[in-house]
Amino acid sequence: MQTLVLKGEEAIEKGAELIAQGEVVAFPTETVYGLGADAFNEDAVKKIFAAKGRPSDNPLIVHIADKSALEGLVEEVSEGAKAVMDRFMPGPITVIMKKSAKVPLSVTAGLDTVGIRMPSHNVAREFIRRAGTPIAAPSANRSTHISPTGAAHVYEDMDGRIPLIIDGEDCEVGIESTILDMSAEVPTILRPGAITAEMLAEVLGAVKTFSGKVVVAKAPGMKYKHYAPLCETVVAKDASSAKKAYDEALAEGLKPVIIAKSQTCALLEGRTHIDVGPTDKDICRNIYAALHRGEKIAGFIVCEHFGDEGICGSVMNRVMKSAGGKIV
Ligand code: TXA
Ligand code: MG
Repeated sequence: MQTLVLKGEEAIEKGAELIAQGEVVAFPTETVYGLGADAFNEDAVKKIFAAKGRPSDNPLIVHIADKSALEGLVEEVSEGAKAVMDRFMPGPITVIMKKSAKVPLSVTAGLDTVGIRMPSHNVAREFIRRAGTPIAAPSANRSTHISPTGAAHVYEDMDGRIPLIIDGEDCEVGIESTILDMSAEVPTILRPGAITAEMLAEVLGAVKTFSGKVVVAKAPGMKYKHYAPLCETVVAKDASSAKKAYDEALAEGLKPVIIAKSQTCALLEGRTHIDVGPTDKDICRNIYAALHRGEKIAGFIVCEHFGDEGICGSVMNRVMKSAGGKIV
């Protein structure tokens, strides 16, 4: 299959047409690129799992362009869910609610809940609107690989596997949406993101952050390996451990690279590095592109620990998984 990469109006029109034909289409959002299909067309949804190589027991998020689409998708919207959606949607959050009977079980992997997300990205919203149906979509990477934050990342993973990539520039947020389970007794964050626990607590009073013990896989990375670059990756707790890990890898004949914020890069004394920028927002926006670039130019990635506070805590949730939990 030939994979087209198109931009602008032409891309949106072609995308909507392909969705109506039961095909899958990659599209940009403010978090990461998604791989979408008509959420009500089970054959189309199957093609998403096939293109990704994703196990079918991992549920998909349903993307909408307008809140009016909620009616056909969820049984009821609780007061708390409404408050969260009023405040943060459109934006980088997915809210899990009891699903309506109309949502196929192949989308939710047999669960009686569904994750709803309304992206803020204009191209995403226009594409969904034009498709005229809610769009089920995971991130547009091959299963277990790094999520794509640019059309070129999608192309690398999906060339020949899908008919169209809508190119909408690089993603502004850079990591996947916060997943908030509003079907739980206490609202629970299943995956941290740019909308933090503190921000949600302001609206909800209390939210539970995911505590670590897993019985049934509810969010990515708990059951399956996720966000993994193609080469060994470690997290360094500070600049001097990063330099030490780099030098050791070099001595072993590996080709190392350090991923760090600008302030740390200034201390690396000529060692090969990728600068993700000076601010927390920059780090979040650039981290996946840095991992993509790292696996391409190096055989060993040392990533700085960016801290556990706020948005950096969400970034480290992903990076720690990339590193398989290894800190040096
Ligand atoms: O930012 C994002 O959320 C991106 C863009 C494309 O919207 N999407 C994304 O999808 O990251 P994905 O499939 O890579 O990750 C969504 C995760 C799934 O792995 C699944 O574990 C969890 O959300 N999920 C989806 N529906 C769920 C449900 N009903 N209950 C619990 N977890 C759910
Ligand atoms: Mg994913």
